[in-house]
Amino acid sequence: MQNNRFLPFTRRDCFALGLGGAVAACAPGGVKQPGSQGLRDIARAKGRDFGSCLGGAAFRDDRVREIMARECGVLVPENEMKWAALRPDPASFDFAAADALVDFAEANRMRLRGHTLFWMDSQWFPAWLNEYDFGTRPASEAERLLRDHIRTVCGHYGERVFSYDVVNEAIEPKTGALRDNALTRHLGDAVIDIAFDAARQAAPHAELVYNDFMSWGPGNAAHREGVTRLLHELAGRGVPVGALGVQGHIGPGASDTTPEFGADDEAQWRKFLDSAVALGLDIVITELDVGDQHLPGDVSERDDAVAALTRKYLDVMLSYPQTRYVMTWGLTDKYSWLRERWPREDGLPKRPCPYDDDYQPKAMREAIADAFRAAPARA
Ligand code: XIL
Repeated sequence: MQNNRFLPFTRRDCFALGLGGAVAACAPGGVKQPGSQGLRDIARAKGRDFGSCLGGAAFRDDRVREIMARECGVLVPENEMKWAALRPDPASFDFAAADALVDFAEANRMRLRGHTLFWMDSQWFPAWLNEYDFGTRPASEAERLLRDHIRTVCGHYGERVFSYDVVNEAIEPKTGALRDNALTRHLGDAVIDIAFDAARQAAPHAELVYNDFMSWGPGNAAHREGVTRLLHELAGRGVPVGALGVQGHIGPGASDTTPEFGADDEAQWRKFLDSAVALGLDIVITELDVGDQHLPGDVSERDDAVAALTRKYLDVMLSYPQTRYVMTWGLTDKYSWLRERWPREDGLPKRPCPYDDDYQPKAMREAIADAFRAAPARA
């Protein structure tokens, strides 16, 4: 896979990718010169970056690996660095699947994100952790387990991983309270302080991120307020959070329920982002995809609506100089987690990603490129 930066690219592809003006850069025979105008390059021209998650079946698909290498400056393993993948049991670590992704990223000059050192939603814990016997001193055992995990993972990757989602989804979306799980039961919200402290010690070079899926819709107010409160408390306690990770599962039918991103929505959303940047935090978009549940079945209408929402959203997000990079949660519809997890009610396959099932760029791909082109440059 190391040599796949030289990819066949037709003249039609050049136009489809909005590179009409750059067709001269497409050599006769339709081969595009390596490295020109990938999303990564368009983003980097503005001091930002672009990437995606990769893993599982998508990682085994050469066509996806090609798109990844062409478009992405950042890779994050979709599932392979989670406890459920790394921790077969309380005593051991299995890095094989994650290491393969790390090797691929490095061979293709991508930077790496680690996702996630602690995902607080217990439905994604390995079964053994939900049933774990914390013994007679449960708080110290819970802290030991968490610190050991973080030290071992960060130690294994050293400086190869530049950014970690240290804590993922700590807030109960409906109430805004801290999630209840096997570790918070013994440690309360100190679990978050401990995770960031352990990450700071084990990965002093890394960007440390609090990552969550709050959104702008009215049904998300408690979630936003809970995250805002948490970030303020962490800042007050000097916990070393460097960035807010905004997952960005947008659109009607994912974690968000509003098809629109109207003026009121934008105002609510900006208020939320403003309070995060006021704490000195950077912003990173970690998992962008567009749930198309209530969008029309017609493919081109749907793709246009997905692209329009993507553009509007990214215009707001990139208006913040604090927004460092944008990751999509998958590059091709074919492997999107939303298809299985939240299928459309009409049974049509969801189309949440920048590339379609045939590995062709969609309007969403162009919307991302245009948003980066229009964005102010970061210093
Ligand atoms: C999802 C993966 O995409 C699925 O394959 C897996 O079954 C469940 O997790 N928020 C996150 C990601 O932080 O880790 C989730 O990824 C999507 C929601």
